[in-house]
Amino acid sequence: MSKSFYITTPIYYVNASPHIGHAYTTIVADVLARYHRMIGDKTFFVTGTDEHGDKIAEAAQKAGITPKEYTDKISAQFRELCPELFISNDYFIRTTDANHIQTVRYILQKVYDSGDIYFGSYGGYYCFGCERFLTEKEIVDNKCPEHGREPKYIEEKNYFFKMSKYQEWLIDHIKKNHDFIRPERYKNEALAFLRDPLEDLCISRPKTRLEWGITLPFDENYVTYVWFDALINYVTALDYPDGKNFKKFWPVAEHLIAKDILKPHGIYWPTMLKAAGIEPYQHLNVHGYWNSGQSKMSKSLGNIVRPLDLKDKYGLDAFRYFLLRDMVFGLDSNFSEEAFVGRLNSDLANDLGNLVSRTIAMAIKYCDGKVPEISKKEKSPALYEAALKTVAEVDSSFKDMSLHKALISIWEFINITNKYIVENEPWTLVKDPANKGKLMAIMYNLLLALRSIAILISPFMPQTAEKILRQIGATDETKNLNLAGIKKHDSLKVGSPLTRGDSLFPRIVQEKETQTKEKKSSMIDLKPEIDYEEFAKVDLRVAKILTAEAVPKSNKLLKLKVDIGEERTIVAGIGKDYSPEELIGRQILVVANLKPVKLMGVESYGMLLATDTDKGLTVLKFDREAKTGGKVR
Ligand code: MSP
Repeated sequence: MSKSFYITTPIYYVNASPHIGHAYTTIVADVLARYHRMIGDKTFFVTGTDEHGDKIAEAAQKAGITPKEYTDKISAQFRELCPELFISNDYFIRTTDANHIQTVRYILQKVYDSGDIYFGSYGGYYCFGCERFLTEKEIVDNKCPEHGREPKYIEEKNYFFKMSKYQEWLIDHIKKNHDFIRPERYKNEALAFLRDPLEDLCISRPKTRLEWGITLPFDENYVTYVWFDALINYVTALDYPDGKNFKKFWPVAEHLIAKDILKPHGIYWPTMLKAAGIEPYQHLNVHGYWNSGQSKMSKSLGNIVRPLDLKDKYGLDAFRYFLLRDMVFGLDSNFSEEAFVGRLNSDLANDLGNLVSRTIAMAIKYCDGKVPEISKKEKSPALYEAALKTVAEVDSSFKDMSLHKALISIWEFINITNKYIVENEPWTLVKDPANKGKLMAIMYNLLLALRSIAILISPFMPQTAEKILRQIGATDETKNLNLAGIKKHDSLKVGSPLTRGDSLFPRIVQEKETQTKEKKSSMIDLKPEIDYEEFAKVDLRVAKILTAEAVPKSNKLLKLKVDIGEERTIVAGIGKDYSPEELIGRQILVVANLKPVKLMGVESYGMLLATDTDKGLTVLKFDREAKTGGKVR
């Protein structure tokens, strides 16, 4: 029986345009959704925008437009970002949607009727960034540490939700369900909040102060507090209370957030659900921050990194890969374009890109442009076993939300495949027709490995996966990805046409890289640059050693008679490293137009080229027979 999977992102505030922090959460959710679809789970993936509250009203006022005009504009930016980033969400929710407003009012009425909402008066320090009252402990040096602003003291009559009533239940629930909030550090953080008595939650704002919100169903003069409104989106999206989706997906709900909104999701939301008679979500998955220049991205610090700029510059899949590979889920990461390009060049251009291009090029050349036919017993146990091992590792990494580990496992498999090419040397096998069977088997196994790699990377890099599948003639599979398909090793259709594509990941030459090279050159103490004309003055020739003998009284000089198109005598200091006998008949390289010099009484008409090794000198030689006397260019 197929399982279900429900994944949500936070709904983003529309007071600012999206940056890579938002893109990251949404891409992680997308990778999870694509993976679960690929293992056959019925999947529902929701993202959207949070549009009510002080912050938005303030931003609209600054922009000189109505809150509705303002939210329509920014919400559209978030919505349009989805296809740009290849996000496969099933639903995009806005808290200004009519069905959401209705659901919020329904839940408020339900909780009010059950006696868990009361009217009272409250005075406290309110942070407009967090859109909530802060506890004394949360205020550091008179400021909200998250937003760096001084909270404002506000005292007013409002409606309160009896959150305190559910404190013990929540502590118990978190303790009994060890990964209800994960990774563990965030579970501990939530339990730490709960060590102090939980205050009741103020869930309304008087319309005299704020009009931009959902009117309370039981008091026309108040709007709903933005967090009470926003959290409910997760059930609105499933057509709570009566929708089929609610029954199917709510029991498997996975929320994905960053650590900034742990408190509303880890404390307010479960207690709200409990009060409304709804089961708690299954997991709260909490990741760290993407920082830029070591600080959290913020408009005021001017260190915002825009996802579309990076996508346009380096390509979407490279961007997705980098975000997922470089952040350990749960911990912070610092974004650097240099690190991004480094990964692109090494993991994507070198490891994956080269593997695909060389395999396809060889397969087209050696197998007549088609998937070759081979017998069952010729299928590579080594590569096949490695693919299955990777599938198992990836599966367990997904269960733990360790997406970077899943990528590490996939890259191990890519490297095993690259090694398989080097070890089997198809280019040598092709020289002898007797090796045809073996060569075809090797090429088939390589194409099969490309197919496994394409399937494995598809949740992370959907466009690249599709390109690889097309190149190996598995076009049908692009619409029907199935992880279990990796287990079928006869699934490549014999005779399918192979096609060469553009380079998947062209290498990026970074300004920094060139600078580093220059630095490197100065570190190896190069002589000053010369231009070609100067170099061309040196006459280098291929010489054949005709005779060799030691120069009397010298323990290192040898007198060589060489043929460079004419006979010459050369004196070379290689007597400690070579015996005269082993030199005779060898071809070497000499500088033929050096002014003659006399060494230990013998005239030398040229210089032999040699270099150092750990064990002495080695003479430069050719790996094929060269033309004696030939010029070296
Ligand atoms: N509207 C609320 C969420 C309500 S959910 C019921 C909100 N919106 S937000 O626009 O501020 O988005 C916060 C979320 O955006 C974070 O939890 C995280 O998912 C993402 N990120 C924003 N900045 C981020 C980083 N610098 N790094 C990583 N993720 C970031 O809070």
